[in-house]
Amino acid sequence: MDLTIEDLKCQTALNYDKELCVCKKVSYRTIYKEIIENKLLTVESIAEKTSASTGCGGCVNRIESLLEYAKKNNYEPLP
Ligand code: FES
Repeated sequence: MDLTIEDLKCQTALNYDKELCVCKKVSYRTIYKEIIENKLLTVESIAEKTSASTGCGGCVNRIESLLEYAKKNNYEPLP
């Protein structure tokens, strides 16, 4: 099941340090930071920077949701 932006917002509001990519142990915070600091726009560019999504691939939808969330959040830093 794909996460909606609101679902993701609730999850990340609870704990930004939760692992987004379990295989490579990369948190939502780490990936979000890379997105806003390096203007990353694709899952592939995030994979190059963080290794996220290069294991089982099961987190690709979460990365796509986070990319969408960052865009809707005007690339504002996390609290
Ligand atoms: S959970 Fe990210 S590659 Fe497996």
